[in-house]
Amino acid sequence: PEEKIALKNRIRALLKEKQAVLVAHYYVDADLQDLAEETGGCVSDSLEMARFGRDHAAKTLIVAGVKFMGETAKILSPEKTILMPDLDATCSLDLGCPVDEFAAFCDAHPDRTVVVYANTSAAVKARADWMVTSSIGLDIVRHLHAQGKKILWAPDKHLGSYIQKETGADMLLWQGSCLVHDEFKGVELDVMKAEYPNAKVLVHPESPASVVVQADVVGSTSQLIHAAQTMDAQEFIVATDNGILHKMQMAAPGKRFIVAPTAGNSATCKSCAHCPWMAMNGLRNLLHVLENGDHEIHVDPVVGQKARVCIDRMLDFAA
Ligand code: 13P
Ligand code: SF4
Repeated sequence: PEEKIALKNRIRALLKEKQAVLVAHYYVDADLQDLAEETGGCVSDSLEMARFGRDHAAKTLIVAGVKFMGETAKILSPEKTILMPDLDATCSLDLGCPVDEFAAFCDAHPDRTVVVYANTSAAVKARADWMVTSSIGLDIVRHLHAQGKKILWAPDKHLGSYIQKETGADMLLWQGSCLVHDEFKGVELDVMKAEYPNAKVLVHPESPASVVVQADVVGSTSQLIHAAQTMDAQEFIVATDNGILHKMQMAAPGKRFIVAPTAGNSATCKSCAHCPWMAMNGLRNLLHVLENGDHEIHVDPVVGQKARVCIDRMLDFAA
């Protein structure tokens, strides 16, 4: 603990000295979330991270999260320096949607409006008409559907089919998934619900349909925290990355949060409700980037300009 206190003090001092701002996701280490909050940065879902980074006056942003979050920050603020604790922190959705295959998929369906999830590379976004995050995907697809648009959706198949069911839109789905949320199991959740009959079930829509169907609330990380805080219940079963429990517990002290079941046998569980890439963000590598200014995110300016169009559309829609 003494080493941790010293690391945190040094990070606080360097953030001030370098006039840098820390932007963190709810899935990263609790110490990083706390530091972001107490030093005037932000801890939030991916939509709010994008907006906060774009609107903040700081010249340097440190993004504690995964690569697509750093890239989005850079695309929205090409003049800012964007650093990340570990540049290898990626996402299975991004990895599962290589731009060449994605472009061929789009080329094969030119009549469709291309909507991509935020969890994609800058190059994939550059090929899209709209970017969405989990907090606003439903509203944007509903809006497009009302205009009679047919949609090509990538990459998360679970989020895509959830939105398709809710809106009735014509959606052609890429077959990607999040390796963390894919592990949540419907049958085991049903058993757990019987054990906690008064618990409300909070589910991130990257989870399989068998889990989503049992939810009391489906939403982005911010929306799930809000539900935990405001719902009239004392117990919650939570189907998303367990990094979120830190904030939930702070937002709703006294309430009880239980992580939803993953694979029946935990020995077969690859990720056990915690994203291995989010877990790459820590106090030590955060201090390293502050001391050395390395681990900088670069996005090809031509690709970035194209990608910006679909991100701006979402942010304008959200405004
Ligand atoms: P949110 O936009 O809900 O924070 O989700 C981001 C993410 O990567 C979820 O796995
Ligand atoms: Fe990607 Fe899933 Fe990790 Fe979120 S939790 S960053 S969707 S792999």
